[in-house]
Amino acid sequence: MPAIRARPPGRYLKIQEVPILRIGVIGFGYWGPNLVRNFAEAKGGKVVAMADLSAQKCTAFERRYPGIRTTTDPRELINAADVDAVVIATPVRTHFELAFAAIEAGKHVMVEKPMTETVEQALRLVDAAARRGVTLMVDHTFVYTGAVRKIRSLVESGELGDVYYYDSTRINLGLFQHDVDVIWDLAVHDLAILDYVVGEKATAVSATGMAHIPGHVENVAYLTAYMGSGMIAHVNVNWLSPVKIRHTMVGGSRKMVVYDDLEPSEKLKIYDKGITLTDDPERISQMLVGYRTGDMLAPQIVGREALAVEAEHFIDCVTNSKTPITDGACGLRIVELCEAATKSMKMRGHPVEIVSR
Ligand SMILES: NC(=O)c1ccc[n+]([C@@H]2O[C@H](COP(=O)([O-])OP(=O)(O)OC[C@H]3O[C@@H](n4cnc5c(N)ncnc54)[C@H](O)[C@@H]3O)[C@@H](O)[C@H]2O)c1
Repeated sequence: MPAIRARPPGRYLKIQEVPILRIGVIGFGYWGPNLVRNFAEAKGGKVVAMADLSAQKCTAFERRYPGIRTTTDPRELINAADVDAVVIATPVRTHFELAFAAIEAGKHVMVEKPMTETVEQALRLVDAAARRGVTLMVDHTFVYTGAVRKIRSLVESGELGDVYYYDSTRINLGLFQHDVDVIWDLAVHDLAILDYVVGEKATAVSATGMAHIPGHVENVAYLTAYMGSGMIAHVNVNWLSPVKIRHTMVGGSRKMVVYDDLEPSEKLKIYDKGITLTDDPERISQMLVGYRTGDMLAPQIVGREALAVEAEHFIDCVTNSKTPITDGACGLRIVELCEAATKSMKMRGHPVEIVSR
């Protein structure tokens, strides 16, 4: 019988060490648990700690994730040697302070939308992250949905033609926020989608809104953004609506798309409809605009939870030194629009120009 030769050690069974990003989450209120769940399940990542000012929230977390430590002091988490990245899901007024402290401690940061309360704070975060060489990403959740990614590919491939307008309604009987108005709470989603889908920065913003509860922020608002290309965007947001609507239309010169986020299966419908302009001088005075009505297609879209895609994207960006789709610069652009909208609202809709940087 031939002798069985021993394998040289490590030659056939090479076990590769996969780096694991150790994540600390700050804030376990309404949205934080979604982030914890997705980061706990994400490839290449591991939640090692959670901080919330509320001891009750810490206890609730410990019941759900036994073995993962908690603290009521976010500084303790930020400065922990075994935390590589910090995910922040606290009220907007706390974003800057926590994110800045984490960046200064050399941690990678993913912060909830809107990134900060002011443009000045956003600029400081972007600058600090670049200086410290860490990843800064903002959670613009909708950008990571299959539907929004599909809309972007329709725009990018030219299937929609020139984009003429973006029209969105995001209304419901919603939770009244204390520190941010309805634009900074809800319109942020649309502005982030718009930023991702058309890739063009607005040149001016006009907004109107009203606060119906004395001493509170605006609970209904209408925002218009003007783009250099001639495209216009309109966003209707409302916390005081009897019905919930999440409806967006993107109209192009070739096709138009309707996105209804509440539709369980056919969230996107692409209409092959539009107008044609005649260049026949004989007919120009009779009928300048002709109508074209073709088929409607409801494409298959990826149904994976956006936060799962996003958590893995953050880990991939940190691990492989990539720039996130929704990086600090993107967070800054959205904060710029919100700040301009706030100024405009004070002037009953007078347009506010966006400075180009
Ligand atoms: N991406 C989305 O779709 C989405 C949805 C909802 C909320 N959000 C964002 O998530 C953030 C949190 O919103 P929420 O609705 O979960 O708020 P929330 O009030 O329900 O929860 C916030 C939690 O943070 C804790 N907290 C407050 N200050 C803290 C601090 N300095 N240090 C540690 N913990 C602190 C509070 O005790 C609370 O448990 C906001 O920025 C909001 O805009 C995003």
